[in-house]
Order: sequence, then C-alpha cells, then structure tokens
Amino acid sequence: MLISAPVRPINSTAAATIRRVASASSPGGLPPHPRLRATRWTLAQALVTADSVKVIIQTNVQSYDYLTQPSGGRTGARPNNEVLTVTELHVRKMDFAFADYDVPFLWNPQNPAFSSMANAVSFLAIGFEKMIVQLINQAKPQITDPEVAEEADAFMRQEGQHSTAHRQHVKGLIRRYPGLQQTLDAVIREFDELTASTPVKYRLAYTADLEATFTPVFKLMLDNDSTLFAPGDDRVASLFIWHFVEEVEHRSSALIIFNSVVNSELYRMRVAPSVFRHVLRVIRVACAGFNEHVPLKDRQVDALSMFASYRNQQTLRRLLPGLRPADNGTMPRAFDDLGLKEQLVALGGIIRSQTPGHNPAHEKLPDLAGEWFRRYDEGYDVTRWYTADSVSS
Ligand SMILES: [Fe+2]
Ligand SMILES: [Fe+2]
Repeated sequence: MLISAPVRPINSTAAATIRRVASASSPGGLPPHPRLRATRWTLAQALVTADSVKVIIQTNVQSYDYLTQPSGGRTGARPNNEVLTVTELHVRKMDFAFADYDVPFLWNPQNPAFSSMANAVSFLAIGFEKMIVQLINQAKPQITDPEVAEEADAFMRQEGQHSTAHRQHVKGLIRRYPGLQQTLDAVIREFDELTASTPVKYRLAYTADLEATFTPVFKLMLDNDSTLFAPGDDRVASLFIWHFVEEVEHRSSALIIFNSVVNSELYRMRVAPSVFRHVLRVIRVACAGFNEHVPLKDRQVDALSMFASYRNQQTLRRLLPGLRPADNGTMPRAFDDLGLKEQLVALGGIIRSQTPGHNPAHEKLPDLAGEWFRRYDEGYDVTRWYTADSVSS
C-alpha cells in the first residue's frame, strides 16, 4: 500500500505534531524541531508504505525528513497512515460491564494499598474529567488555530469516555457501599467549585500541569503491571490500563492547548503549587471517604496511608503520651514492592514535567502502551486484558 499526501502549507503546531508522531517510532532518534527559527512550513511529501513512513517538512530555514518504521510497535506510535493527521488521538468507547457483577473494592488482594489508590483515581477522574469537558467548551472560542481546535476536541472526547467508564466503576462500588455516594459528591463538588471560581487560563494550566505528570507515573505502573494489575480483578485492571494508556497517548494535548491559549511557562509554573495542593486535597477527600464508608475487612488498609503527612501524624500519636493513632488499618504503601530506582526515575519525571520547555513528546513510554494499541487494532477484547484469550477459547 502506498499513500501519498499532496503538498500543502501547514502551521507550526501541525509540523510539531507530525514530528512528534513520526519521531515516536523513529529508530534514529529525534529529528530536529521544525519550530526552531522557521516561520513557514510546508508538508512537501508524505509517503506511507506497508512498513515505513516518509515525511518531508520544508520550512523557510531548511527541510526535515522523517523516515520511520511505524510497525515497530514499541512506543505506541500508530501503526498505519495516521501520521498524516494532525491529531493521533482515538476516541474509543469501552464497556467493562460493571453493572453485571459485584465490583470489589479490594480488586487486587495482593496489594490492598494499590487497590485503594487506584479506586481514589477513579473518583478523582470523574470530577477532573468533568471539569476538562466544561473547560474545553469554555476555551473553544479562544482557540484560533484549527489544528489545535481539533486536538482539543479529540482530547475532550477521550476524557469524556474516561469519565463515563469511571462513573460505571464507582457506581458499582456505591452499590456495595452506599455511603461512597457522599464521597463521590464531595469530590465532584471540589472540581465544580474550581470551575466556578477560577478563570479558564488557570484551569488550562491545572490540566497541563497535572496531565504532564501522568506519563512518568503511569509508566511506573504499567511497567509493573505483572504485580499491580495482573493479579487483580480483570475488568477493574483493564479499566485502569485502558485509561493510563490513553493518558500516555494524549500526553501532549493539554500542553498544546495551554500554549495555544495562554502560552506562558511562567504562569504554568507559578500556579503549579496550588494545583497540586488541590489535587492532593481531593484525593484526601476520597481516601477519608473510603475509611469512613468501606469496612476495614474489605479495604484491609488505612486508605489515608498514601499521605506521608498522615503517616507521620500517626507515628507521632503513637509516640506521644496521652494520644492514640486513628485505628483505620495498616499503612503499607502501594509501591513498597517496586524497585527504588524505578520509583526515583518516575519522581524525576514528575519534577521534569513541571519545568519550562518540558515536551511530553520526548518522554519514555511504557512498552505496554504499544502492546495495548496493537492488540486493540487487532480486535482483541481489551476490556478483559488478562483473560480475554481464555474467555474466547
Ligand atoms: Fe483521562
Ligand atoms: Fe488526560
């Protein structure tokens, strides 16, 4: 198969996006950045064959050739001619059938702390992604670049799908523990208040800041899927794997949108502390709700133990005369069994993600992401990531 595209002018964002997609699978490393010094870009040639993609972008400075082998699959690059589109995001609808069975809170019994942490992510995702959908709708009039508008639309729709799936998951938990409805309402309220009380530019920075941390964090998780996800309930594990893989897929979107509308690294960095204070506050609301509404025998751990400040407070209470620690269960950490080096790499990635000039396109990607896209494109049932083969055979 040979597909070629006509010569056409493109803007800097499209050039950067084509570079990002093309370079994701380039064995030769990253080609030069077409945004440097250039003021005009032309997509001069785009040839897609069965096993390679050749893209030539000409600028008023020089011409850039990208020769890639998209079938490599390791990085999650799209394995077909989608390199020619401005956004490579796919909106995938998922049904994990959470209404059909009793959704366990302790979905990975081998790691109760991770089970609880991931459940908190489900609650957070509903509120956060609801905020994103409202935000993009509000920001649309300010997005003048049609390529960025397309990116924003695909980003919003992908996040909308995540939110819908997490609602089904949380609904299943609420069926078993009705008090968690209050927790969900409280989490959503936190984000609704943020939407009502902050300007669009703040929420664009919030989204860009938080989303930038996802790739290193989710890489750590997906690289350790054999212990964090595989031993767990397959539908719940598959929900998180799908979501995290798509977060890796759209890792640049929020920053592209922020840069298009606000374009101030300084502002993004300045608001970061308040952004992460808010995120941690919301996760705390969810974890406190778990301690309150889910019996200890079902959650097995103190859900608040993921917060160092809480663990320190508990230690102090144990040591000081006249005080007693709260009796909410043991306090293991979700990543206790993961390698320290890997955790430090993830931490380094989180810090780097907040620095000026950060480009998520350069991030190292989890192998599982490439595998997930390949299987999805082949029609594998990704809602049963670990058991689909045995179910269908
Ligand atoms: Fe998401
Ligand atoms: Fe996202």
